[in-house]
Amino acid sequence: MDNKKNKTSKAWINRQLNDVYVNMAQKAGYRSRAAYKLLEIDDEVNLFKNVQVVVDLGCSPGSWSQVACSKVGANSLVIGVDLLEMAQIINHHFIQGDFTNEITLNQLIDSLNGRDVDLIISDMAPNLTGIKGIDQARSAYLVELVLDFAANYLKVDGNCLIKVFQGNEFNNLVKQAKSIFRQVIIKKPKASRSESSETYLLCKNKYI
Ligand SMILES: C[S@@+](CC[C@H](N)C(=O)[O-])C[C@H]1O[C@@H](n2cnc3c(N)ncnc32)[C@H](O)[C@@H]1O
Repeated sequence: MDNKKNKTSKAWINRQLNDVYVNMAQKAGYRSRAAYKLLEIDDEVNLFKNVQVVVDLGCSPGSWSQVACSKVGANSLVIGVDLLEMAQIINHHFIQGDFTNEITLNQLIDSLNGRDVDLIISDMAPNLTGIKGIDQARSAYLVELVLDFAANYLKVDGNCLIKVFQGNEFNNLVKQAKSIFRQVIIKKPKASRSESSETYLLCKNKYI
């Protein structure tokens, strides 16, 4: 390993060891510290109230799906989609595939079996190239597809939580979300690292 990589991975290891959310996640049995981002937002706004059908986009390694499965009631359906493999979660339907690909989208639609989605949660993030313009454009494309999916398959009055990176496209994405939802609130949960440009759009009450 060259010196620069060595330093970077040491910094990553140190950060993980000192990260209170990593420790909490390990103790609670969550697969990732990301669980606490969703839990914090849910504590504030009761995302899972009366929710039966959840779609979790970019779900691997699975902590948001773990939270979703523990929050939904009887007769529920939690479907997760990710490019990567994921270890099974009880009462969870996992689809391995690329959400930008029509085959995956059709698999997701088939799994819904005609049911409307009550809640969409998307923590999808593209693999970063380090080139700002490319990373922002790829991320914005994913957000647009999530909004498109919400427009077509989320029930009227349903909610959606989407990871969005701050950048050139941010205001346009908020505008698009506002054309579908009555209320769009920007959230930066404490568990989201301050140095990261990630934020979450909490999109509430889809229009008819
Ligand atoms: C930050 S991780 C999600 C962590 C997850 N919320 C959790 O709590 O465990 C982002 C995920 O988005 C997935 N992803 C990125 N682009 C995708 C795509 N086009 N289709 C499906 N998944 C994608 C990545 O493979 C990665 O696992």
